[in-house]
Amino acid sequence: MAIERIVDPAQEDNQGEEEQKIENVLRPKDFKNYIGQERIKKNLELAIEASKKRDEPLDHVLLYGPPGLGKTTLASIIANEMGAQIRVTSGPAIDRAADLASILTNLGDGDVLFIDEIHRLNRSVEEVLYSAMEDYAIDIMLGKGPSARSLRLDVPKFTLIGATTRTGALAAPLRDRFGMLHRLEFYSPEEIARIVERSSKILGSDVKGDAAKMLSTRSRLTPRIANRLLKRVRDYADVNGDGIIDTNTTNKALEMLEIDEIGLDPADRMLLKSIIENHSGGPVGLNTIAALLGDEVSTVEDFYEPYLMQVGFIERTPRGRKITPKAYSHLKIKVDNRDTPQEKLL
Ligand SMILES: Nc1ncnc2c1ncn2[C@@H]1O[C@H](COP(=O)(O)OP(=O)(O)OP(=O)(O)O)[C@@H](O)[C@H]1O
Ligand SMILES: [Mg+2]
Repeated sequence: MAIERIVDPAQEDNQGEEEQKIENVLRPKDFKNYIGQERIKKNLELAIEASKKRDEPLDHVLLYGPPGLGKTTLASIIANEMGAQIRVTSGPAIDRAADLASILTNLGDGDVLFIDEIHRLNRSVEEVLYSAMEDYAIDIMLGKGPSARSLRLDVPKFTLIGATTRTGALAAPLRDRFGMLHRLEFYSPEEIARIVERSSKILGSDVKGDAAKMLSTRSRLTPRIANRLLKRVRDYADVNGDGIIDTNTTNKALEMLEIDEIGLDPADRMLLKSIIENHSGGPVGLNTIAALLGDEVSTVEDFYEPYLMQVGFIERTPRGRKITPKAYSHLKIKVDNRDTPQEKLL
């Protein structure tokens, strides 16, 4: 990542021990404390109840959507509500088919296996997963060459929960083996405000008046960013005031962080401005945008675009991404009509 961004919804790895501890404290443990995503919760609660009644493992679940919206949290809540053990791993962490075989055979009946970034599993590992998901069995090869033979091994009746920021990158045979697919949506400002209020209670800080609402629109409708901004505003209030988080301290702290009223940070503004300045606002291809930012295409797709599209600042056209008039007016830049032929004649 070219720039360290406070609003980067993905950044969770490079946080310190203290941050990690706080994130764990704030993570809801049951459906009751998991705010929003009502439709998904209702579906899951029903499926969990039914599978408990039938004494069968829950169908495999795929959770997808932009980073920081609560996929990992939801996975552990599902395990919790099932009364099941959860084993957590990720696509890139499973190198070889044998690694997956060993994880699977070590599970217990009814356990949940959570694979984060499941789109990054390699092909040979994925194939082992197919039969495990479908038949609760895996085929392993013993030996090499003409004497090689395959051995079928049963694995416990587990539930796979996969999480990914991009279903497009998921192989169709894998996607089709999930009984439930849920897309997490951005939260409403009211839901984020409730998350902020819940978190501030847990942290023992005092959020007054409209400060929670103010934080909600500035955190890109994303719980992870809402919690992160809350912590930064709390620091600011502790150092520069009496520790009370009101609209005034919130405003000042966010100004210092250069986050504007709809949650855009300098990196977002730079992205929009460079498309406007270098390509008259587009349409422009993803590769070009990535090159303008000095970032990966996947970073643009996963971290910048979802929210910029959500607020209607970027639109997808068959010829590439285009900056909308709404974005021009937010940035206070006049729409440049130079390339409209009629305008040229005037
Ligand atoms: N519905 C929710 N209610 C309350 N807090 C939430 C909710 N969803 C997420 N959070 C908070 O946001 C943080 C980030 O959520 P989580 O780690 O589950 O996101 P994620 O979708 O797995 O992100 P990534 O794609 O980066 O792995 C959690 O620590 C949790 O405190
Ligand atoms: Mg996660």
